[in-house]
Parts: sequence; structure tokens; C-alpha cells
Amino acid sequence: MSETTPPSTPTSVHVPGDRPYEVLIGSHLLGELPRLLGDRTRRVLLIHPGALATSAEAVREDLVAQGYETLLAEIPEAEEAKTAQVAAFCWQVLGQADFTRSDAIVSLGGGATTDLAGFVAATWLRGIKVVHIPTTLLAMVDAAVGGKTGINTAEGKNLVGAFHPPAGVLCDLETLDSLPRHDRTAGLAEVIKTGFIADERILNLIEADPTALTGETLEPAGRAVLRELIERSVAVKARVVGQDLREADLREILNYGHTFAHAIEHVERYSWRHGAAVSVGMVFVAELARLSGRLSEDVVDRHRAILTSVGLPVTYRGDRWEQLLSAMRRDKKTRGDLLRFVVLEGIGRPTRLEGPDPTLLVAAYAEVSREAPSGTAISL
Ligand code: GLY
Repeated sequence: MSETTPPSTPTSVHVPGDRPYEVLIGSHLLGELPRLLGDRTRRVLLIHPGALATSAEAVREDLVAQGYETLLAEIPEAEEAKTAQVAAFCWQVLGQADFTRSDAIVSLGGGATTDLAGFVAATWLRGIKVVHIPTTLLAMVDAAVGGKTGINTAEGKNLVGAFHPPAGVLCDLETLDSLPRHDRTAGLAEVIKTGFIADERILNLIEADPTALTGETLEPAGRAVLRELIERSVAVKARVVGQDLREADLREILNYGHTFAHAIEHVERYSWRHGAAVSVGMVFVAELARLSGRLSEDVVDRHRAILTSVGLPVTYRGDRWEQLLSAMRRDKKTRGDLLRFVVLEGIGRPTRLEGPDPTLLVAAYAEVSREAPSGTAISL
């Protein structure tokens, strides 16, 4: 991939399915927007958090110069954006500006912005076009690709939503240069997840020089590696969601580590970053797979080594089992009373473990909490 791709040429990853689209990865990609928006779009609502107001204004000017009537909707930062009230505010803007089925939404922001904007696009007039411009590593490799959209309710995260594939995704690598180091690290958890479930080259690339990816600033060598990691992660996700948009089966593998991770996030009242929780969640399911005779100790050790090498946590406090278990029972993958986990039988060989013996769950938790500090540690 990137070995043969000059830095100025965007890489295009095709996402197959009923409504196929492209994910473009490169630099200065705004010129691609009109092609993705299509000929019939006249009005665009650009949804962005306040922190990206300056960048949003630049995108707006670009769209106006290209002939689009463009409105801005500024939304709150991070999860605060994913509420029914914020969605209703966007619907109001769309209604007052007479947006029709041929008009479009563009999102500029991290995963919460792409989730909210995608949901507004899915619901306005039963579905209008959305193009995502993700600005974080996590949004580029996960949230913006695959058509999952949604908002939170008082009862939990992402409980209301729709599958609504975008018309295209523009991953502008320049935005990663100014991304805080901790955001880059958090995004690497999903990249490493993709490596374990489907593409060992991702793991090899990170293991070759983890510090190139985790410095305060991104040097050219790190930038080139990051580009290939994004291309590979998006390619895996495209393959999976292209076959199973609605998570009937295969798409579940993208949730590797997420059942335990969502439980940590819930128990910690969402003070943990998603990437940090996914990191610990992957160690938990790796231990579960080892204890149930599916995975070798070497691969479990490899989980801990690579996650630690980029600064992600691999332990969690040992005094929260009841809360974690009850949170896992509410996980979307649970069927009836049976807990279900995506586990590995080897690198690139995901499978499901349904209704594991409770003693194995407790033993896997013991492994994860063995060297953990007793208090709550927010590791990122
Ligand atoms: N984040 C997992 C998925 O898109 O299915």
C-alpha cells in the first residue's frame, strides 16, 4: 500500500455493499467533496464542535466557493453532542433552511460528531446524504466508516441509532499533526484491535518502532507508518462492513475487547477514554481465550507488550467484578442470559465464545487485575 503511494496521492478504499462508497486517505482532500456530494446537492449543513470552529469556517468558505449554500451547526464537544436535544437542534436548522432529500450533511470532528451527524442525516426526511471528515485517529479508523450512527440516552450509550452508510469519508492526515498525543494513543487501541482480528502486518509495523507513533509530535517516519496503519485498518473495516452492515454476524468481530471495555466505561462513568478501555478489554478476552484453551500464552503476552509499548493500559482494579458483570449482561451482544465474547484462536482468527464458565470469567478478571493499582486509575 503506502510503500508505493506517493504522499500527495490519496489512497482510496472502496467500501462495498448496497450503497458503496469511498474512504479517501491523504492530504488536502477538500477538493474531493463535490464529487462525493454529487450533482444534485445544493445546500450543505456542516456539523462541527466548537473547538473546530476555525477549520469549519475554512470548509464553509471552500464549499461556498464551489457553489453550495452552506450552513454551520456548532455542537458540544465529545459525548455531550450525542443527545436528542442536539439532534433536535440540527433538525430545526435543517427545517428552517428547507433542506430537501437531495441536500446533504457534512460532519467535521471526532467519533461523537460523526455519530451525531450521521444520525441526523439518517433521520432527516428518512435519510439524506452525509460525508464525514473525521479529525481524530479513532474516527478515521472506526467511527466514520461503516454507517453506525447514534445518540445516547440516560440509560446508556448508542441506544438510539440507525445504520446509515456515508456517501464518502475524507481522512485528511494533516489533521493528525495537531492531534494531542493522548488522542493518537487512544486511537491506536482500535488500530491494534484490527491487527489482532485481521491483519498481522499492523502489529508488525507498530512493534518495529512504537515510539515513532507516540511522541509529542509526529515525525515524518511516524507519519508514514500512521498512514499505512490507517489504510490497513480502514481496508479491514471496509471488508467486514461491506459483507455485514447490520452486524448480523461477521461485523461482531470489530467488537473484539469491547464487551469488557463498555463495562469499564460504564463502571467508571465514562471518565475513561474508549481506547484505554478497549485496550484492557482486549487483554481480558485474550486471557479468557487462553484459559478456555483457544489461544497460546505467546499471543496473550503479545497483547500486553504491544499495548504497553504505545502507552495503553493493560490492567484494571480488582474490586469491581459484580458491577462489571452486570454491565456486561446488558451488552448488545448478549443473547438472553448468555454472555458472548469475540475471542481469538490465533492472530487473524476471531471466533465467538458463548456462555463461558463463570469461573473462567473470574479467572480472566484476576489476570487483568493482578498488577493493577487498587484505586481508579485513568491511564490516558
Ligand atoms: N465500532 C465497531 C463497528 O463499527 O462495528
